[in-house]
Amino acid sequence: MRALTERIYEVGVQDWDRRLFDELIPLPDGTSYNAYLIKGSEKTALLDTVDPSKTELLVDHLVRAGADSIDYIISHHAEQDHSGSIPDMLLMYPDAKVVTNPKCKAMLIDHLQLEDDRFIEVQDGQELSLGDKTLQFIYTPWVHWPETMCTWVKEDRILFSCDFFGSHQACSNLYVDNEALVLEAAKRYYGEIMMPFRTSIRGNLKKLEGLDIATIAPSHGPVYNRPSMILDAYRDWIAEDKVKNHVIVAYVSMHDSTQRMTEYFVDALMERGVGVKQYNLTVADIGELVIDLVDAATVVIGSPTVLVGAHPSALYCAALVNVLRPKTKHLGIIGSFGWGSKMVDQITGMLTNVKAEIFEPVLSKGMAGEQAYSELDALADKIAQKHNALGLM
Ligand code: FEO
Repeated sequence: MRALTERIYEVGVQDWDRRLFDELIPLPDGTSYNAYLIKGSEKTALLDTVDPSKTELLVDHLVRAGADSIDYIISHHAEQDHSGSIPDMLLMYPDAKVVTNPKCKAMLIDHLQLEDDRFIEVQDGQELSLGDKTLQFIYTPWVHWPETMCTWVKEDRILFSCDFFGSHQACSNLYVDNEALVLEAAKRYYGEIMMPFRTSIRGNLKKLEGLDIATIAPSHGPVYNRPSMILDAYRDWIAEDKVKNHVIVAYVSMHDSTQRMTEYFVDALMERGVGVKQYNLTVADIGELVIDLVDAATVVIGSPTVLVGAHPSALYCAALVNVLRPKTKHLGIIGSFGWGSKMVDQITGMLTNVKAEIFEPVLSKGMAGEQAYSELDALADKIAQKHNALGLM
Protein backbone atom coordinates (compact mmCIF):
# COMPACT_ATOMS: atom_id res chain seq x y z
CA MET A 1 0.00 0.00 0.00
CA ARG A 2 1.53 3.32 -1.13
CA ALA A 3 0.13 6.85 -1.06
CA LEU A 4 -0.08 8.83 -4.32
CA THR A 5 -1.41 11.89 -2.61
CA GLU A 6 -3.53 12.72 0.40
CA ARG A 7 -6.11 9.90 0.75
CA ILE A 8 -5.35 8.31 -2.60
CA TYR A 9 -3.52 5.00 -2.26
CA GLU A 10 -2.19 2.38 -4.64
CA VAL A 11 -3.42 -0.91 -3.16
CA GLY A 12 -2.74 -3.30 -6.04
CA VAL A 13 -0.24 -6.13 -6.38
CA GLN A 14 3.13 -6.72 -8.05
CA ASP A 15 3.22 -10.09 -9.83
CA TRP A 16 6.99 -10.61 -9.96
CA ASP A 17 6.89 -14.19 -11.18
CA ARG A 18 4.37 -14.12 -14.01
CA ARG A 19 6.07 -14.82 -17.32
CA LEU A 20 3.17 -15.05 -19.77
CA PHE A 21 -0.05 -13.11 -20.26
CA ASP A 22 -3.04 -14.58 -22.11
CA GLU A 23 -0.76 -17.64 -22.48
CA LEU A 24 0.79 -15.69 -25.36
CA ILE A 25 2.53 -12.46 -24.32
CA PRO A 26 5.99 -12.82 -22.75
CA LEU A 27 6.44 -10.86 -19.50
CA PRO A 28 10.23 -10.62 -18.97
CA ASP A 29 9.75 -8.29 -15.99
CA GLY A 30 6.51 -9.71 -14.59
CA THR A 31 3.59 -7.30 -14.30
CA SER A 32 1.47 -5.48 -11.76
CA TYR A 33 -2.27 -5.16 -11.25
CA ASN A 34 -2.61 -1.63 -9.88
CA ALA A 35 -5.75 -0.76 -7.94
CA TYR A 36 -6.37 2.58 -6.26
CA LEU A 37 -8.28 3.49 -3.12
CA ILE A 38 -9.71 7.02 -2.91
CA LYS A 39 -11.05 8.15 0.44
CA GLY A 40 -13.24 11.17 -0.08
CA SER A 41 -14.64 13.19 2.80
CA GLU A 42 -17.98 11.37 2.43
CA LYS A 43 -17.50 8.25 0.33
CA THR A 44 -14.74 5.77 -0.49
CA ALA A 45 -14.05 4.26 -3.89
CA LEU A 46 -11.85 1.41 -5.06
CA LEU A 47 -10.68 1.83 -8.65
CA ASP A 48 -10.30 -1.62 -10.21
CA THR A 49 -9.19 -4.77 -8.39
CA VAL A 50 -6.50 -7.34 -9.20
CA ASP A 51 -6.04 -10.69 -10.87
CA PRO A 52 -8.08 -13.28 -8.92
CA SER A 53 -4.90 -15.23 -8.09
CA LYS A 54 -3.76 -12.21 -6.02
CA THR A 55 -6.95 -11.34 -4.13
CA GLU A 56 -5.43 -12.12 -0.73
CA LEU A 57 -2.75 -9.46 -1.21
CA LEU A 58 -5.35 -6.90 -2.29
CA VAL A 59 -7.35 -7.64 0.87
CA ASP A 60 -4.19 -7.21 2.94
CA HIS A 61 -3.44 -3.84 1.30
CA LEU A 62 -6.99 -2.63 1.84
CA VAL A 63 -6.81 -3.55 5.52
CA ARG A 64 -3.51 -1.67 5.86
CA ALA A 65 -5.06 1.34 4.12
CA GLY A 66 -7.86 1.32 6.69
CA ALA A 67 -10.58 0.65 4.12
CA ASP A 68 -13.29 -0.25 6.67
CA SER A 69 -15.98 0.45 4.14
CA ILE A 70 -16.09 0.90 0.39
CA ASP A 71 -19.05 2.55 -1.28
CA TYR A 72 -18.05 2.22 -4.92
CA ILE A 73 -15.93 -0.21 -6.91
CA ILE A 74 -15.09 1.51 -10.19
CA SER A 75 -14.57 -0.98 -13.01
CA HIS A 76 -12.74 0.52 -15.99
CA HIS A 77 -12.36 -2.72 -17.91
CA ALA A 78 -13.92 -6.18 -17.63
CA GLU A 79 -10.76 -8.20 -18.29
CA GLN A 80 -10.11 -10.43 -15.30
CA ASP A 81 -6.68 -9.08 -14.35
CA HIS A 82 -8.56 -5.99 -13.12
CA SER A 83 -12.04 -7.31 -12.47
CA GLY A 84 -11.27 -10.80 -11.15
CA SER A 85 -11.39 -9.85 -7.47
CA ILE A 86 -14.68 -7.92 -7.73
CA PRO A 87 -16.80 -10.90 -6.53
CA ASP A 88 -14.66 -11.16 -3.38
CA MET A 89 -14.79 -7.39 -2.88
CA LEU A 90 -18.60 -7.50 -3.07
CA LEU A 91 -18.61 -10.16 -0.34
CA MET A 92 -16.14 -8.21 1.79
CA TYR A 93 -18.02 -4.92 1.32
CA PRO A 94 -21.71 -5.95 1.11
CA ASP A 95 -22.96 -2.37 0.63
CA ALA A 96 -20.54 -1.57 -2.21
CA LYS A 97 -21.83 -0.97 -5.73
CA VAL A 98 -19.91 -1.62 -8.94
CA VAL A 99 -19.79 1.62 -10.95
CA THR A 100 -19.22 1.22 -14.66
CA ASN A 101 -20.59 1.84 -18.14
CA PRO A 102 -23.42 -0.32 -19.55
CA LYS A 103 -21.12 -2.26 -21.91
CA CYS A 104 -18.69 -3.12 -19.11
CA LYS A 105 -21.59 -4.06 -16.82
CA ALA A 106 -22.85 -6.59 -19.37
CA MET A 107 -19.37 -8.05 -19.76
CA LEU A 108 -18.83 -8.27 -15.99
CA ILE A 109 -22.12 -10.14 -15.67
CA ASP A 110 -21.01 -12.52 -18.45
CA HIS A 111 -17.52 -13.12 -17.08
CA LEU A 112 -18.07 -12.98 -13.33
CA GLN A 113 -21.78 -13.77 -12.99
CA LEU A 114 -22.40 -10.69 -10.86
CA GLU A 115 -25.95 -9.75 -9.82
CA ASP A 116 -27.63 -6.92 -11.74
CA ASP A 117 -28.60 -5.03 -8.56
CA ARG A 118 -24.98 -4.57 -7.49
CA PHE A 119 -24.33 -2.07 -10.33
CA ILE A 120 -24.57 1.67 -10.87
CA GLU A 121 -24.35 2.58 -14.56
CA VAL A 122 -22.54 5.78 -15.55
CA GLN A 123 -22.50 7.66 -18.83
CA ASP A 124 -19.58 9.26 -20.64
CA GLY A 125 -18.58 12.46 -18.80
CA GLN A 126 -20.75 11.73 -15.76
CA GLU A 127 -19.41 12.72 -12.33
CA LEU A 128 -19.65 10.92 -9.01
CA SER A 129 -18.89 12.85 -5.84
CA LEU A 130 -16.96 11.34 -2.94
CA GLY A 131 -17.35 14.61 -0.99
CA ASP A 132 -14.19 16.61 -1.49
CA LYS A 133 -13.05 14.47 -4.43
CA THR A 134 -14.91 14.01 -7.69
CA LEU A 135 -14.67 11.08 -10.09
CA GLN A 136 -15.42 11.86 -13.72
CA PHE A 137 -15.81 8.91 -16.07
CA ILE A 138 -14.39 9.25 -19.57
CA TYR A 139 -15.24 6.57 -22.09
CA THR A 140 -12.08 5.51 -23.94
CA PRO A 141 -13.28 2.55 -26.00
CA TRP A 142 -10.98 0.00 -27.60
CA VAL A 143 -7.96 0.37 -25.36
CA HIS A 144 -8.08 -2.54 -25.84
CA TRP A 145 -11.64 -3.86 -25.36
CA PRO A 146 -14.83 -2.09 -26.43
CA GLU A 147 -15.92 -1.18 -22.88
CA THR A 148 -12.73 0.48 -21.59
CA MET A 149 -12.95 3.82 -19.76
CA CYS A 150 -10.82 6.11 -17.57
CA THR A 151 -11.52 8.11 -14.42
CA TRP A 152 -10.42 11.73 -14.00
CA VAL A 153 -10.05 13.21 -10.50
CA LYS A 154 -9.96 16.94 -11.10
CA GLU A 155 -9.02 17.94 -7.52
CA ASP A 156 -5.73 15.99 -7.78
CA ARG A 157 -5.40 16.17 -11.60
CA ILE A 158 -4.91 12.41 -11.78
CA LEU A 159 -6.07 10.32 -14.74
CA PHE A 160 -6.70 6.68 -13.83
CA SER A 161 -6.28 5.06 -17.22
CA CYS A 162 -6.41 1.29 -16.57
CA ASP A 163 -4.68 -0.56 -19.46
CA PHE A 164 -4.30 2.65 -21.50
CA PHE A 165 -0.64 3.85 -21.16
CA GLY A 166 0.27 0.78 -19.08
CA SER A 167 3.42 -1.31 -19.09
CA HIS A 168 3.93 -4.89 -17.99
CA GLN A 169 6.46 -4.39 -15.24
CA ALA A 170 6.64 -5.45 -11.62
CA CYS A 171 8.66 -2.86 -9.70
CA SER A 172 9.04 -1.48 -6.20
CA ASN A 173 8.93 2.19 -7.21
CA LEU A 174 5.50 3.78 -7.34
CA TYR A 175 6.49 6.36 -9.95
CA VAL A 176 8.58 5.99 -13.12
CA ASP A 177 12.23 6.16 -12.07
CA ASN A 178 13.89 5.11 -15.33
CA GLU A 179 12.09 6.61 -18.31
CA ALA A 180 14.00 4.66 -20.98
CA LEU A 181 13.21 1.30 -19.36
CA VAL A 182 9.56 2.15 -18.82
CA LEU A 183 9.18 3.46 -22.37
CA GLU A 184 10.49 0.17 -23.74
CA ALA A 185 8.10 -1.82 -21.53
CA ALA A 186 5.22 0.49 -22.49
CA LYS A 187 6.10 0.13 -26.20
CA ARG A 188 6.08 -3.65 -25.86
CA TYR A 189 2.70 -3.41 -24.13
CA TYR A 190 1.32 -1.02 -26.76
CA GLY A 191 2.54 -3.26 -29.57
CA GLU A 192 1.08 -6.39 -28.07
CA ILE A 193 -2.44 -5.20 -27.32
CA MET A 194 -3.07 -1.58 -28.37
CA MET A 195 -1.48 -1.32 -31.82
CA PRO A 196 -4.41 -2.77 -33.83
CA PHE A 197 -6.66 -0.06 -32.36
CA ARG A 198 -4.65 2.99 -33.46
CA THR A 199 -7.68 4.78 -34.88
CA SER A 200 -9.56 4.52 -31.59
CA ILE A 201 -6.49 5.55 -29.64
CA ARG A 202 -6.19 8.67 -31.80
CA GLY A 203 -9.76 9.64 -30.85
CA ASN A 204 -9.17 8.87 -27.19
CA LEU A 205 -5.99 10.95 -27.04
CA LYS A 206 -7.89 13.85 -28.57
CA LYS A 207 -10.58 13.45 -25.95
CA LEU A 208 -8.00 13.74 -23.16
CA GLU A 209 -6.42 16.89 -24.62
CA GLY A 210 -8.56 19.27 -22.58
CA LEU A 211 -7.41 17.82 -19.26
CA ASP A 212 -4.55 19.44 -17.34
CA ILE A 213 -3.08 16.08 -16.31
CA ALA A 214 -0.47 16.05 -13.53
CA THR A 215 -0.35 12.27 -13.09
CA ILE A 216 -1.35 9.22 -15.12
CA ALA A 217 -2.01 6.19 -12.94
CA PRO A 218 -2.38 3.09 -15.13
CA SER A 219 -3.32 -0.41 -13.98
CA HIS A 220 -0.03 -1.99 -15.08
CA GLY A 221 3.45 -0.67 -14.33
CA PRO A 222 4.62 2.48 -12.57
CA VAL A 223 2.70 5.74 -12.30
CA TYR A 224 3.68 8.63 -14.60
CA ASN A 225 4.35 11.93 -12.80
CA ARG A 226 5.61 13.36 -16.10
CA PRO A 227 2.61 12.45 -18.30
CA SER A 228 4.02 14.06 -21.47
CA MET A 229 6.58 11.24 -21.58
CA ILE A 230 3.94 8.59 -22.33
CA LEU A 231 1.46 10.86 -24.13
CA ASP A 232 4.15 11.95 -26.63
CA ALA A 233 5.27 8.33 -27.10
CA TYR A 234 1.70 7.24 -27.87
CA ARG A 235 1.32 10.11 -30.36
CA ASP A 236 4.44 8.87 -32.17
CA TRP A 237 3.41 5.22 -32.11
CA ILE A 238 -0.05 5.85 -33.57
CA ALA A 239 1.15 8.28 -36.29
CA GLU A 240 0.80 6.34 -39.56
CA ASP A 241 3.61 8.27 -41.26
CA LYS A 242 6.15 7.90 -38.44
CA VAL A 243 8.12 4.78 -39.41
CA LYS A 244 11.84 4.16 -38.97
CA ASN A 245 14.62 3.18 -41.33
CA HIS A 246 14.40 -0.32 -39.92
CA VAL A 247 13.82 -3.80 -41.32
CA ILE A 248 12.70 -6.77 -39.25
CA VAL A 249 14.02 -10.02 -40.71
CA ALA A 250 12.17 -12.81 -38.91
CA TYR A 251 13.22 -16.22 -40.13
CA VAL A 252 13.44 -19.92 -39.43
CA SER A 253 15.79 -22.36 -41.16
CA MET A 254 15.93 -26.16 -41.28
CA HIS A 255 18.98 -27.12 -43.37
CA ASP A 256 20.90 -23.84 -43.51
CA SER A 257 19.73 -22.49 -46.87
CA THR A 258 17.31 -19.92 -45.42
CA GLN A 259 19.86 -19.18 -42.68
CA ARG A 260 22.52 -18.33 -45.29
CA MET A 261 20.05 -16.22 -47.25
CA THR A 262 19.06 -14.35 -44.10
CA GLU A 263 22.63 -13.63 -43.06
CA TYR A 264 23.56 -12.50 -46.58
CA PHE A 265 20.48 -10.30 -46.81
CA VAL A 266 20.98 -8.69 -43.38
CA ASP A 267 24.58 -7.83 -44.35
CA ALA A 268 23.37 -6.43 -47.67
CA LEU A 269 20.92 -4.15 -45.88
CA MET A 270 23.58 -3.00 -43.41
CA GLU A 271 25.97 -2.18 -46.27
CA ARG A 272 23.28 0.06 -47.76
CA GLY A 273 22.75 1.97 -44.50
CA VAL A 274 19.43 0.30 -43.71
CA GLY A 275 18.76 -0.47 -40.03
CA VAL A 276 17.94 -4.12 -39.51
CA LYS A 277 17.41 -6.72 -36.80
CA GLN A 278 17.48 -10.46 -37.36
CA TYR A 279 15.12 -12.68 -35.34
CA ASN A 280 15.44 -16.46 -35.32
CA LEU A 281 11.81 -17.36 -34.75
CA THR A 282 12.60 -20.59 -32.92
CA VAL A 283 14.29 -18.72 -30.04
CA ALA A 284 13.28 -15.05 -30.38
CA ASP A 285 11.45 -13.13 -27.66
CA ILE A 286 8.26 -12.36 -29.56
CA GLY A 287 7.83 -9.25 -27.39
CA GLU A 288 11.08 -7.78 -28.74
CA LEU A 289 9.91 -8.42 -32.27
CA VAL A 290 6.63 -6.68 -31.42
CA ILE A 291 8.50 -3.62 -30.07
CA ASP A 292 10.21 -3.40 -33.46
CA LEU A 293 6.90 -3.88 -35.28
CA VAL A 294 5.56 -0.66 -33.77
CA ASP A 295 7.60 1.52 -36.14
CA ALA A 296 9.69 -0.61 -38.53
CA ALA A 297 9.20 0.49 -42.13
CA THR A 298 9.71 -3.03 -43.52
CA VAL A 299 9.15 -6.62 -42.41
CA VAL A 300 10.71 -9.61 -44.15
CA ILE A 301 9.75 -13.17 -43.26
CA GLY A 302 12.18 -16.00 -44.07
CA SER A 303 11.09 -19.62 -44.23
CA PRO A 304 12.14 -22.98 -45.56
CA THR A 305 9.54 -25.28 -47.06
CA VAL A 306 8.16 -28.03 -44.87
CA LEU A 307 5.26 -30.30 -45.86
CA VAL A 308 5.05 -28.28 -49.11
CA GLY A 309 4.31 -25.03 -47.28
CA ALA A 310 5.88 -22.45 -44.99
CA HIS A 311 7.42 -23.54 -41.72
CA PRO A 312 4.81 -23.28 -38.88
CA SER A 313 7.05 -20.78 -37.03
CA ALA A 314 7.00 -18.50 -40.08
CA LEU A 315 3.21 -18.89 -40.32
CA TYR A 316 2.94 -18.00 -36.63
CA CYS A 317 4.96 -14.85 -37.30
CA ALA A 318 2.74 -13.94 -40.27
CA ALA A 319 -0.37 -14.51 -38.15
CA LEU A 320 1.06 -12.29 -35.40
CA VAL A 321 1.90 -9.49 -37.82
CA ASN A 322 -1.53 -9.78 -39.39
CA VAL A 323 -3.42 -9.61 -36.09
CA LEU A 324 -1.31 -6.71 -34.71
CA ARG A 325 -1.71 -4.71 -37.97
CA PRO A 326 1.47 -2.60 -37.69
CA LYS A 327 1.95 0.53 -39.82
CA THR A 328 4.71 -1.28 -41.75
CA LYS A 329 4.94 0.03 -45.32
CA HIS A 330 6.65 -2.91 -47.06
CA LEU A 331 6.67 -6.69 -46.71
CA GLY A 332 9.10 -9.24 -48.12
CA ILE A 333 9.37 -13.03 -48.20
CA ILE A 334 12.59 -14.96 -48.63
CA GLY A 335 13.26 -18.67 -48.28
CA SER A 336 14.03 -21.99 -49.85
CA PHE A 337 12.45 -25.22 -51.08
CA GLY A 338 13.45 -28.68 -52.29
CA TRP A 339 11.07 -29.51 -55.12
CA GLY A 340 8.05 -27.19 -54.82
CA SER A 341 6.50 -24.77 -52.35
CA LYS A 342 3.24 -23.02 -51.57
CA MET A 343 5.00 -20.93 -48.96
CA VAL A 344 4.55 -17.54 -50.61
CA ASP A 345 0.80 -17.98 -51.14
CA GLN A 346 0.39 -19.20 -47.58
CA ILE A 347 2.30 -16.32 -46.00
CA THR A 348 0.76 -13.58 -48.16
CA GLY A 349 -2.67 -15.14 -47.59
CA MET A 350 -2.13 -14.56 -43.88
CA LEU A 351 -1.15 -10.91 -44.19
CA THR A 352 -4.38 -9.49 -45.53
CA ASN A 353 -4.85 -6.99 -42.66
CA VAL A 354 -1.55 -5.26 -43.31
CA LYS A 355 -1.76 -2.41 -45.81
CA ALA A 356 1.76 -2.74 -47.14
CA GLU A 357 3.46 -3.18 -50.51
CA ILE A 358 4.61 -6.79 -50.89
CA PHE A 359 7.92 -7.17 -52.73
CA GLU A 360 8.67 -9.92 -55.24
CA PRO A 361 9.76 -12.92 -53.08
CA VAL A 362 13.25 -14.38 -53.25
CA LEU A 363 13.24 -18.18 -53.19
CA SER A 364 16.12 -20.58 -53.61
CA LYS A 365 15.79 -24.15 -54.88
CA GLY A 366 18.05 -26.07 -52.54
CA MET A 367 21.10 -24.45 -50.99
CA ALA A 368 21.35 -20.72 -51.66
CA GLY A 369 23.87 -19.78 -54.35
CA GLU A 370 24.81 -16.91 -56.65
CA GLN A 371 21.34 -16.53 -58.15
CA ALA A 372 19.68 -16.17 -54.73
CA TYR A 373 22.37 -13.78 -53.48
CA SER A 374 21.99 -11.59 -56.53
CA GLU A 375 18.20 -11.44 -56.01
CA LEU A 376 18.74 -10.62 -52.32
CA ASP A 377 21.06 -7.76 -53.35
CA ALA A 378 18.32 -6.47 -55.63
CA LEU A 379 15.78 -6.72 -52.79
CA ALA A 380 18.14 -4.84 -50.44
CA ASP A 381 18.55 -2.14 -53.16
CA LYS A 382 14.80 -1.83 -53.47
CA ILE A 383 14.29 -1.50 -49.70
CA ALA A 384 17.01 1.15 -49.47
CA GLN A 385 15.34 3.08 -52.32
CA LYS A 386 11.94 2.81 -50.66
CA HIS A 387 13.27 3.97 -47.31
CA ASN A 388 15.02 6.85 -49.07
CA ALA A 389 11.81 7.80 -50.82
CA LEU A 390 10.06 7.91 -47.44
CA GLY A 391 12.76 10.31 -46.20
CA LEU A 392 14.01 7.82 -43.61
CA MET A 393 17.66 7.75 -44.69
FE1 FEO B 1 -4.80 -5.44 -18.08
FE2 FEO B 1 -6.86 -5.75 -20.67
O1 FEO B 1 -6.27 -6.09 -18.99
